[in-house]
Amino acid sequence: MLLKNLKPEIIAILGDKRQSVKDRLHKICQLLSDSVNYYDWVGFYFKNEDKEELKLYTYVGEATDHEIIPFGKGICGQVALSNKNFVVPDVQAQDNYIACSIHVKSEIVIPLFKNGENIGQIDIDSNTPDAFTEKDEKFLEFVNLEVAKII
Ligand code: SME
Repeated sequence: MLLKNLKPEIIAILGDKRQSVKDRLHKICQLLSDSVNYYDWVGFYFKNEDKEELKLYTYVGEATDHEIIPFGKGICGQVALSNKNFVVPDVQAQDNYIACSIHVKSEIVIPLFKNGENIGQIDIDSNTPDAFTEKDEKFLEFVNLEVAKII
C-alpha cells in the first residue's frame, strides 16, 4: 500500500460533516490500521484541557492503560514538549518510554498543530522493528494538517 494513495480517502472521511469529529478521527485510525500492515496501534492524543497532560481521544488496536500521559513522560509526553516528530526504531533502547504492549517494537509520534500550537499528536506503534521512515513522517504530517482543519 502506497501511503499517498490513502490521501483522498482521508480527505473524504474528515470532510464528512454528518459524522462527529470523534467518529471521523476513529475512522482515520481504522483506515490507517487496516491499510498499512505495519501500523498495529493507531491513536490520537490531545492536551487535556489546561492540564500538562495528554488524554487519549480515540484509537484502534490493543487496549491501553495509558489514557493519560503527563507532559515529559514517554515518547508521547516528550513530543508534547519538543513539538518535534519522534521516530523510535527500537523502543527497548529508550529510557523514557511507556510500554503499552509487549509486542511493540517501534513507534512514531507526530505532533498536531492548530494555529501554531501543539495541541495533540498521532501515535502509531508497530510490532515490526524499525518500521517507520521519512515517508511515514511526511504522510502523518499530512494527516495531522487535515485533522487540524476540522478541530
Ligand atoms: N509508548 C507511548 C505510550 C502510548 S502507547 O504507545 C499507546 C509512549 O512511550 O509515550
